[in-house]
Amino acid sequence: MLSQYLRIRERDGIVALFHELHPDPIFCSLDKWRNLLAGITDGDEVLINDLKQRRLLVDSPENDRQEFEMVAINLERKLNQPVILYLMTAQGCNLNCKYCPVPAIAKKYGETILSMEDAFAGIDLWEEHLKDVYDSSLQYFVIFYGGEPLLNKEVIKNSLGYLKMKKDAGFLPANLNVMIATNGILVDDEIIALCKEYEVMVSVGLDGPKSSNDVLKVDGSGNGTFDRIVAIIRLLVQSNIRTFASVSITPFNIDQITEYSKFFMELGIEKFGFNFLKGRLLLELVGRDGLDDYYEQASRGVIENARRQSKPGFEYQMEKKQAAFDSKDFFPVDCTCYGNQLVVQPDGQISNCPFSKTWLGHVREVGKDFRIFNQPIVKKWRERLPIHHSGEAKAVCGGGCAWSSNELKGDPLAVDDSSRIFSEEVLNELIWSRYKKLKSEKA
Ligand SMILES: C[S@@+](CC[C@H](N)C(=O)[O-])C[C@H]1O[C@@H](n2cnc3c(N)ncnc32)[C@H](O)[C@@H]1O
Repeated sequence: MLSQYLRIRERDGIVALFHELHPDPIFCSLDKWRNLLAGITDGDEVLINDLKQRRLLVDSPENDRQEFEMVAINLERKLNQPVILYLMTAQGCNLNCKYCPVPAIAKKYGETILSMEDAFAGIDLWEEHLKDVYDSSLQYFVIFYGGEPLLNKEVIKNSLGYLKMKKDAGFLPANLNVMIATNGILVDDEIIALCKEYEVMVSVGLDGPKSSNDVLKVDGSGNGTFDRIVAIIRLLVQSNIRTFASVSITPFNIDQITEYSKFFMELGIEKFGFNFLKGRLLLELVGRDGLDDYYEQASRGVIENARRQSKPGFEYQMEKKQAAFDSKDFFPVDCTCYGNQLVVQPDGQISNCPFSKTWLGHVREVGKDFRIFNQPIVKKWRERLPIHHSGEAKAVCGGGCAWSSNELKGDPLAVDDSSRIFSEEVLNELIWSRYKKLKSEKA
């Protein structure tokens, strides 16, 4: 019998048959597929074997149930792995990007900075987490974040020393990566020297060429930031510091993002990632009626940019979905707030999301048995993940952002349309580019 997870796409007389939980498409002519459905299977052993191998033809519904169980167990295991520690060293920011929720949070709760004690306590608590679940095949990350993390250089400097000491003593993983996510403006010689000494990677926020960046990414006086940020990126690259870029897709660059891999390659960075804008400020920029158009245009732009780029995987959003598809894996999550990250907010409160103060307790008071992946809010937010819902592109859809769903729809469990629309477009792209590749290999 056909699996309940068998899905079909058709284009120009060719059908792609794939498993919804781990797409690894088989291609055949529409006629061949129709004959098979009609029971005329003569000469189609290869196709039948392929279908069986991919568990698209099964003996009973029990096989489908087992398949689902396997994917669900695997996903749960991945979600219970706290691969990231976010240390939010400052709530305030020296810029005033018009789409960023951080200034409003800082206004509401104050421009707190993280204390040294809380930063160290965060590192200690993360160490406790890793004692249970450390996996040497994974990469682990500490990310200094904000607001603008470099408003609190002292705590970054001391935390780097503390992390190194723990790593050298074998208390933290050897495969530990450290990153500062910054707008770059406050990078100076001391920061460059620290990044070199501790092998810190730097991710810089920049929204593309000057004319598009400077509309929304402005400082407190409303001045554009492009020239200053690009000068810093060049300095980081020249100093051999691993440098990345974080790029928001705005109404002012959405028409140009197809060329962004070229633009960022020329700056010499290692890789960059697009951000679909999230939260209430997006409504101010595109209006509620403009949301779907924004998501669709942004999705097509991200895909087209990946098609045009000369270095495969240079853009991160596409790279991670492509990697899951190529390895026939179920893509776990778009966001690491479902148990994969421990966030220490500037006031020492723990949360599972940097943009959302979820008040899970103070880092110095929760005790060493606290685990982020066991928190009720994390368990609740997992209910929104695509595996639990219908959707033919669920294997490449990470489910998006609960914080944004809450902002836009008043419900953290509501579907994130940006993630839904992007993954549907991406799945089609991945399927048909695979077909094109197979065809050209045969020719
Ligand atoms: C919150 S900032 C913090 C680090 C640093 N101050 C900076 O400006 O890059 C990190 C990244 O968040 C992204 N960001 C800000 N507001 C966003 C939003 N509403 N939706 C999605 N990403 C957003 C920006 O692209 C920025 O690069």
